[in-house]
Amino acid sequence: MTDTPLPVRPETAADFPAVRELVTAAFGRADEACLVERLRACEAYIPQLALVATSADGKVVGHLMLTRLPIHLDRGGSAPALALAPVAVRPDRQRAGVGSALVSQALERAAGLGFGAVIVLGHPSYYPRFGFLPGGAFGVRCPFDVPGEAFMARELVPGALRECEGMVVYARAFMEEDAL
Ligand SMILES: CC(C)(COP(=O)(O)OP(=O)(O)OC[C@H]1O[C@@H](n2cnc3c(N)ncnc32)[C@H](O)[C@@H]1OP(=O)(O)O)[C@@H](O)C(=O)NCCC(=O)NCCS
Repeated sequence: MTDTPLPVRPETAADFPAVRELVTAAFGRADEACLVERLRACEAYIPQLALVATSADGKVVGHLMLTRLPIHLDRGGSAPALALAPVAVRPDRQRAGVGSALVSQALERAAGLGFGAVIVLGHPSYYPRFGFLPGGAFGVRCPFDVPGEAFMARELVPGALRECEGMVVYARAFMEEDAL
């Protein structure tokens, strides 16, 4: 892990080509880079919560998005939450604290904007360090057929997920697989 806090800021249009390149390199394919672009174009997008981490020379070395993800409640109605996805760090900068800096700062910024909870579908060995618990601990369910431990939730405000038993509803952007 690096000792120097990494600059993290919202992405701007000038970052988009570098973000596409970085996300493609991190995942070894273009699918997630296309997802990023679809998310930017949809109503779930929150510009203040699409973040880049930059190196000392200003290059984009990491990227992360938090987008709107409502929970359809079993008792009726819905509760707001955020989806954390995707998270990507440039391959030559992985395992040096960039991802951790991005996730920690994203959670802080989201809390500062008044959001109550974040959901992630990801590595069960990575996200618990940021306070994520299995979604089942809150009665929040995933619409996809994924291993239960990969679907996690984190309250930003204590109690935000109380009485929020239900199913999250991912933006259509997550379902579409056509390349942009
Ligand atoms: C996953 C990813 C975002 C983590 O970012 P990072 O900057 O490499 O991670 P950090 O340096 O902050 O943290 C390092 C820790 O993450 C763990 N880690 C890194 N990649 C991991 C992975 N694919 N699965 C599980 N743990 C992983 C390391 O083992 C290390 O753990 P330790 O602190 O216990 O030794 C980055 O490796 C990446 O872009 N991977 C490719 C794309 C991807 O899989 N994105 C996540 C989708 S859920």
